[in-house]
Amino acid sequence: DTERMEKIVSLCKSKGFIFQSGELYGGLNGCWDYGPLGTELKRNVKEFWWRKNVLEREDIVGMDGSILTHQAVLTASGHVGGFSDPMVDCKVCNKRYRADQLDEIPTCEKKAQLPKGEDKSCELTEPKEFNLMFQTKMGASADENDPNAIAYLRPETAQSIFVQYKNVLDSTRLKLPFGIAQIGKAFRNEINPRNFTFRSREFEQMEVEYFCRPEDGLRLTDEWLEKRLEFYSEIGVPREKLHVLDIPDEDRAHYSEKTYDIEYDFPFGQQELEGVAYRGAYDIGKHQEHSGKNLEYFDAETKERFIPHVVEPSAGCDRTILAVICEAYDVEDLTKEGGKKDERTVMRFQPCVAPIKAAILPLLKNKPELVAKAKEVKALLQPHMNIFYDETAAIGRRYRRQDEVGTPFCIAIDFETLGEEGPNGEDFTDTVTVRHRDSMEQERVAISELLPWLLARIV
Ligand code: GAP
Repeated sequence: DTERMEKIVSLCKSKGFIFQSGELYGGLNGCWDYGPLGTELKRNVKEFWWRKNVLEREDIVGMDGSILTHQAVLTASGHVGGFSDPMVDCKVCNKRYRADQLDEIPTCEKKAQLPKGEDKSCELTEPKEFNLMFQTKMGASADENDPNAIAYLRPETAQSIFVQYKNVLDSTRLKLPFGIAQIGKAFRNEINPRNFTFRSREFEQMEVEYFCRPEDGLRLTDEWLEKRLEFYSEIGVPREKLHVLDIPDEDRAHYSEKTYDIEYDFPFGQQELEGVAYRGAYDIGKHQEHSGKNLEYFDAETKERFIPHVVEPSAGCDRTILAVICEAYDVEDLTKEGGKKDERTVMRFQPCVAPIKAAILPLLKNKPELVAKAKEVKALLQPHMNIFYDETAAIGRRYRRQDEVGTPFCIAIDFETLGEEGPNGEDFTDTVTVRHRDSMEQERVAISELLPWLLARIV
């Protein structure tokens, strides 16, 4: 499976999905840039998530908080004091490791050259806590030591939702239960970023904070878990590749009565995609305590005032994309009996997330009528979806290129489109050949029907 992962990483680079950030200068560890296709894929995943969690629901609204975060917010949330991982250093080579992820003592980079038989292992310090937040200073005139000038890059999107929940409530007419959704960047100075984009220092989260009455919390947590599993299967990560861990009491955050982790079978092992946590009254309670402001919810019908409880489905966008990519990647053997070896690489993306929805391919580029018709089809589809126009090689070669980037439909404009008779005397005038990526089957669709035909299949 290491080999499979290497192939995926290599395809991601060669096809323009994901590049190492700052690669030209040796790479910035734990940071990644999405290339042209990766950007489309990411937009599609985020839009699909937004559609399911905000647009199609009456009880959830969106927000977009600032990344730079007030120190007091993160003090109240416990991040300033406690958002850390245990870390050990090698006293000889200075390499740093997460103490809780060491299965064995690593080989020391300085001692690696020692002759056989010599002890080459790292000499590790005692574990100490390492805060994962990126701290920064605000304002040009900020005094180096002025604690008021300190701000942080947010380590999660959740906190801005908690501290704005009252403003959202007051500016909308929402009643419990209701949710606030946010997609955005989060930053953690991970000790060992690894497994491609899986553990990064800069990443994106997709979070809902769902506020409810205390008595509904546990039931809603279970409902959210089901909804989230459904979401993954809709974007091409099937239920059988996901594992739900019901986190035992001793491993849960002290304030959480229930936490589920959703894990996926990545090529490098079963790892967390998302957490669905019942956080009780902890977050709003803490911000009420630290800010001194009343953050209670007032129920106009029962006249009760109380701190709402929170259920939080918190997904990593980049991890979701990595799972979608790993799941889509396939190498299919098409070798015919006795024939030459023929393999095709195909990214089997669900059409709703596929970066390119349709490729438009005139059969030949030196026939102006074919090209003109193909450009007409292009103009018809372009306002509605991301399409790709290609007239550069033999049609079979062009199909394979689209398979490699996961385009679900290829649309060929051929002589029959222009009025030539079909093989059995059919009239195919003003129809195109649509080739399906997965089955490689072809069918003819009238140009006048093409847009609704595609729109129905790419949602
Ligand atoms: N607000 C709750 C929260 O942030 P978390 O389990 O720390 O919970 C939620 O993070 C999700 O964010 C994770 O399940 C994961 O998908 C993603 N995530 C966390 N750290 C990450 C990292 N270093 N790189 C990529 N994704 C990460």
